[in-house]
Amino acid sequence: MKTIICRCEDVTDEEILELIHNGFTTIDEIKRFLRAGMGHCQGRTCGRLIAQLISRETKKPLDKITYSKPRPPIKPVSLKTLAGKNIKK
Ligand code: FES
Repeated sequence: MKTIICRCEDVTDEEILELIHNGFTTIDEIKRFLRAGMGHCQGRTCGRLIAQLISRETKKPLDKITYSKPRPPIKPVSLKTLAGKNIKK
């Protein structure tokens, strides 16, 4: 049974496991290949799930799994917020 890991990019555990079994053992590699972690949560939710899959499959301790480096914006920001007060109606 498939489980959705990244709901924004519709990435399943089966897809991630296939990559791990083909040598993709970092969150960044999986992110670049499947776009998991590039959606709305920016990896805050799915990153942990991906790390757990990598840890389980590679027998690497969870605290040794490196998370992808956050890039701005850290949280989704509306265009209105970015534009500030200069936006005209
Ligand atoms: S659930 Fe899609 S980016 Fe995290």
